[in-house]
Amino acid sequence: MAARRLWPQSVALALLWLLALGFVLYAAGFGWRGLTRDLSGQTYLYTHGGWAANLAVFGHMLAGAAITCLAPLQVSAALRRRFPALHRGMGRVLVAGGMLAGLGGLAYIALRGTIGGPWMDFGFALYGVCMVVAAVQAFRFARRRDIARHRRWALRLFVLAMASWLFRVHYGLWFLATGGLGSTEGLTGPFDRVQVLAFFVPYLVLLELWLRRHPEPGAA
Ligand code: HEM
Repeated sequence: MAARRLWPQSVALALLWLLALGFVLYAAGFGWRGLTRDLSGQTYLYTHGGWAANLAVFGHMLAGAAITCLAPLQVSAALRRRFPALHRGMGRVLVAGGMLAGLGGLAYIALRGTIGGPWMDFGFALYGVCMVVAAVQAFRFARRRDIARHRRWALRLFVLAMASWLFRVHYGLWFLATGGLGSTEGLTGPFDRVQVLAFFVPYLVLLELWLRRHPEPGAA
């Protein structure tokens, strides 16, 4: 693709990166505080004396912050072409971060469960499994130099990496529009029930439809 055709993608990804930056800093700060301080009085996510659950949930926030920050840079065709070594380096961090975020979240669900109960446990566990599978597959196909498959899995990982931010975007927009209709503190309202899957499943479906129309890297 000619360089001049890449700039709309570069601008869109830069905008996405900027929009997600607030959440990245929030997640990184929360994760760091949870790993270095006793947050018992401040958040239900902290388990007093429960080092494993704390390591899982706050560690997953740090890993999650890293992948949310790197994912828009990783899919940039302009950066990949100019700095292939950077693409490979960030790719390794994304794969490791995706696995840590996914496995950390899954471990926390197994140890403590989510605030929303079994339905939210299910949705978030599915999200974690998808994240781990996408990270492993993107890595495997990159190692095999199977670029077509690597691209498909890497794009799935990208969508999943941005989905946690989208979860908060959905809530922000919904609260602005309705004041929080159908949502409860314990995330058990009808809106919450839908969100448990709606922050990643529709985007993965859209990506699959897009991939059918653009099966090759140069086609889009
Ligand atoms: C993509 C990057 C991710 C980031 C940046 C991230 C960040 C966060 C943050 C900041 C929280 C604390 C709640 C809040 O303050 O909003 C949280 C909660 C949680 N996350 Fe993640 N997360 C990510 C991915 C994942 C994945 C892949 C899983 C998979 C299982 C997961 C499972 C959970 C669970 C179970 C909770 C606790 C829910 C509750 O009971 O309140 N997260 N995450």
